[in-house]
Amino acid sequence: MPEDGALPATALAGAERRPLGFYLHVPYCATRCGYCDFNTYTASELRGSGGVLASRDNYAEQVVEEVRLARKVLGDDPRPVETVFVGGGTPTLLAAADLGRMLGAIREEFGLAEGVEVTTEANPESVDPRYLAELREAGFNRISFGMQSARQHVLKVLDRTHTPGRPEACVAEARAAGFDHVNLDLIYGTPGESDADWRASLEAALGRGRTMCRRMR
Ligand SMILES: C[S@@+](CC[C@H](N)C(=O)[O-])C[C@H]1O[C@@H](n2cnc3c(N)ncnc32)[C@H](O)[C@@H]1O
Ligand code: SF4
Repeated sequence: MPEDGALPATALAGAERRPLGFYLHVPYCATRCGYCDFNTYTASELRGSGGVLASRDNYAEQVVEEVRLARKVLGDDPRPVETVFVGGGTPTLLAAADLGRMLGAIREEFGLAEGVEVTTEANPESVDPRYLAELREAGFNRISFGMQSARQHVLKVLDRTHTPGRPEACVAEARAAGFDHVNLDLIYGTPGESDADWRASLEAALGRGRTMCRRMR
């Protein structure tokens, strides 16, 4: 990739006819789940990196710089941004104000379209009502929680640290904070998961929010 971030002509051809969206990756997790293929680091992995990896403390600043670089790369492209998705890792390990600064840079540099969808992913154990209210205040209007399963023995196989029931509580807290759009991720086919376990997870999720199912590879 060129240092100035320049895109090949093939990537820019017809770009003005396509909607513009941002994905911002936050590569930090409190602990790692064995099944996860995403690019994430725990605090101890970061300590062992000899400072090569960006730290959580200055991560938002670095994302702001990247957004500014994207503005230069796209020149005078007038499209406002229609979707922003902050994923991870666990974005909600950063302060809500940091996520707000990252979104603010996109707003400042590109402008947000009317009706823009602004999502963050979150681990159920990483948020509380105050944090959710701060996210809403910062401009986030959709949140996606990693529920995975409603059964403790399945959560254990997946290395999840939240307890059954916490994701449903998160949905209620998010709605109370003003989120109209709340998603729960489920994983199907975990070793040891029975049909009854899967049904219990679906029922728990459908009782509270919309469900997106992801199949284990
Ligand atoms: C990247 S995680 C970020 C969300 C948050 N860290 C959490 O785990 O709650 C987003 C979702 O990806 C799914 N996922 C993780 N590893 C996966 C894999 N190897 N294959 C398919 N889906 C996966 C999980 O359902 C998870 O909720
Ligand atoms: S918490 Fe989420 S991002 Fe982190 S390892 Fe687990 S599934 Fe992957």
